[in-house]
Amino acid sequence: MKVAIIGATGQTGSVIVQALLESTAPTFEVIALTRPSSLQKPTVLELQRKGVKIVSADLGGPQSALTETLVGVDVVISAIYGGSVMDEIPLINASKTAGVKRYLPCFFATVAAPKGALCLRDMKEDVLNHIKNIYLPFTVVDVGWWYQVNLPKLPSGRIDYAAMETADGIAGDGNVPFALTDVRDIGSYVARIITDSRTLNQMVLAYNEVLSQNQIYDLLERLSGEKLERKYVPAEAIEASIAEIEATSPSPDSMEFVTLAQYQYWYSCCVRGDNTPEYAAYLGYLTTMELYPDFEWRGFKSYVQEVLDGNGKRVYEHLKDLPAASTDKKASAMDTAV
Ligand SMILES: NC(=O)c1ccc[n+]([C@@H]2O[C@H](COP(=O)([O-])OP(=O)(O)OC[C@H]3O[C@@H](n4cnc5c(N)ncnc54)[C@H](OP(=O)(O)O)[C@@H]3O)[C@@H](O)[C@H]2O)c1
Repeated sequence: MKVAIIGATGQTGSVIVQALLESTAPTFEVIALTRPSSLQKPTVLELQRKGVKIVSADLGGPQSALTETLVGVDVVISAIYGGSVMDEIPLINASKTAGVKRYLPCFFATVAAPKGALCLRDMKEDVLNHIKNIYLPFTVVDVGWWYQVNLPKLPSGRIDYAAMETADGIAGDGNVPFALTDVRDIGSYVARIITDSRTLNQMVLAYNEVLSQNQIYDLLERLSGEKLERKYVPAEAIEASIAEIEATSPSPDSMEFVTLAQYQYWYSCCVRGDNTPEYAAYLGYLTTMELYPDFEWRGFKSYVQEVLDGNGKRVYEHLKDLPAASTDKKASAMDTAV
């Protein structure tokens, strides 16, 4: 199966590429659609070394060039930065013209209602609506919240190397459950989903575990032997922060937008309780628990132990190599992850 991916060097894209390359039955031919400005990046050259075909793709360029690139491609996957998803529209149009059999738009996030809950999702749903408008076969894959952005820091500082700034604080009373996935499992889920006829023109929630923030803190305390300070942030304070930033209508490439997205994730997952398998079922998603009961996902407890043992890895580490011009985006991605 021929799979083209845009965002192949990103955090999500890189794990998808890795899983596709490692798959033996079926095998995948992987093409990384790469911005002309990124063709010489070390991360792109590394993909090439691993056997990925690197193809220059300018989303702002002529659509005929994109169409030509996609002729014969079975599946197109987008895993670009969440704030850039509207840039996908020309790629979607080209996929339709080229006869692509399935398009995965850039979702890969938490479960929420189509509009009004998450500013990022609002844009992703506009993209999905465009796909439906032109009658392009699709699959939406959401993955819950990554383990890697939900690990609080310990007073000793021993897991600072792997934890994100955003995991500092508990929303509301901390008892609301939400779906979580190890980012490293997303690729294997995607490899199954794109070869499964049951998932065509469907939304799929891929997830590993369902836990509340208090349960995450309890587990970390038990495994580390340390006592964590629990900084509860009332729901009203989160609502006020969201309203304050929304009033400024931040542009999707600004730091304010990233902060808004982060507060909205918090509110949606930890106050409203949107990010659950039950709400996903209500919204019409299929779930990987039902589709692939044999899938061997990584457990949250073993992930925490891995980090405590010093064997964890901070997400977005590869962005450390970005040139100075990308510093703002780099800082936002490394500390907040949207
Ligand atoms: N579930 C969760 O907990 C969670 C956490 C974080 C993110 N997410 C979601 O995961 C998805 C992917 O995000 P990510 O953080 O994995 O991505 P990321 O690491 O920020 O990756 C960005 C990738 O997209 C490419 N890219 C960015 N803008 C582009 C554009 N305009 N045209 C072409 N390529 C572009 C970059 O290519 P270059 O190499 O050319 O720069 C890079 O390969 C998003 O939908 C996001 O909302 C979910």
